[in-house]
Amino acid sequence: MNNSLVDSHGREIKYLRLSVTDRCNLRCVYCMPKKGIKLLEREEILSFSEILRIVDIFTKLKIRKVRLTGGEPLVREDIDNLVESLIAANPEIDYAITTNGTLLDKHYKKFADCGLKKINISLDTLGASKYSLLTRNKIYTPQMILDYIDKATSYGLKDIRINSVISGFNDKEDIRSMVDLAIIKHIRIRFIEAMSTNKLPDRYIECGRPSYSHDNGLSASGDTNDAFTNDNFKENIINILNEFGTVSKVKNLNELGPASYYRIDNSDGLIGIISNGASYCNNCNRIRLTSDGRLKLCLYSKNSLNLKKLLRSGSSDLEISQVIEKYVNKKPCNKFSNKSGKKILLPEYMNRVGG
Ligand code: GTP
Ligand code: 5AD
Ligand code: SF4
Repeated sequence: MNNSLVDSHGREIKYLRLSVTDRCNLRCVYCMPKKGIKLLEREEILSFSEILRIVDIFTKLKIRKVRLTGGEPLVREDIDNLVESLIAANPEIDYAITTNGTLLDKHYKKFADCGLKKINISLDTLGASKYSLLTRNKIYTPQMILDYIDKATSYGLKDIRINSVISGFNDKEDIRSMVDLAIIKHIRIRFIEAMSTNKLPDRYIECGRPSYSHDNGLSASGDTNDAFTNDNFKENIINILNEFGTVSKVKNLNELGPASYYRIDNSDGLIGIISNGASYCNNCNRIRLTSDGRLKLCLYSKNSLNLKKLLRSGSSDLEISQVIEKYVNKKPCNKFSNKSGKKILLPEYMNRVGG
């Protein structure tokens, strides 16, 4: 089993996003309902040995990047041990983690020591009360997260990026403060157009679809096919960047992801924009494994392949990899596949899929 994974559109699949838990210590408005959701039972979630085995199978299928996601990956008990074991087992993989940063203080040293290099941290506002409202929490503050980032950076973790989801809860001022931060701290910040899920009650979906009810004036494209041609989100962010100086598009970053990057003249910080359009889909090289072991071929896929069942039913690595190869072939060409003209909503809560 030394084949690479290629889909029927000729895209080589190199990147696995692996959710290690559906649990989270925050309740971001665009991600989970206030009262929380029914969480998976422990035994439904893949064990460490199952994760190690599946990553090994994917490595042999030429996956080259694995990003651990959640929920919040750092709430999973012994996450440091998992990261260490994954790196030791397959050091050729480019490992990364996406976290809300609230527990980073406890983990950054172990992460750095075992060789984890890339950490993406979600932070949507630098305003303490807005952060509290947005994440529905009274314990953690943006200042804490910034302090942890500083500590982790001085300890040697140099590739830390900030993800800022732009929903109806933050606005141009929040974006300006983030751009300032990117310039001052020479850090990479990405502005992400919020995606709507059909699982959240209407008023949260409104938050997930920027501007409609809260009118922060940042997006008009929404989640419709208009996004193919009408990329207002990107345009609106670039307009804000222009206030800081001459903006140029960064090419040749040698990264294949949904973000387009920009630089403001005379500054080191990179600003990424991840909009809801489908222009990235043509080059999409990623697949996702949910915490309960379902392989999803697209963030917007309703269907999945139950790998946990195979892992727990005595199938050999060869058998599992053959099933994966066949399934990956079905990866839809873009998020709008078979949905022409219809609004696209995420079919399940983000904490299950890991973004
Ligand atoms: P890098 O490795 O730093 O490029 O990060 P990443 O974009 O792979 O991962 P991250 O977990 O930081 O995700 C950033 C944002 O991109 C999140 O809001 C994700 O939901 C979103 N995202 C991830 N994959 C996709 C995708 O395939 N399509 C779209 N439209 N958005 C995605
Ligand atoms: N739309 C866009 N991004 C989202 N994330 C979580 N929910 C949404 C959503 N509805 C982001 C998190 C994190 C990443 C994994 O996904 O903020 O940065
Ligand atoms: Fe937790 Fe991330 Fe969802 Fe926020 S977006 S509730 S931090 S899983």
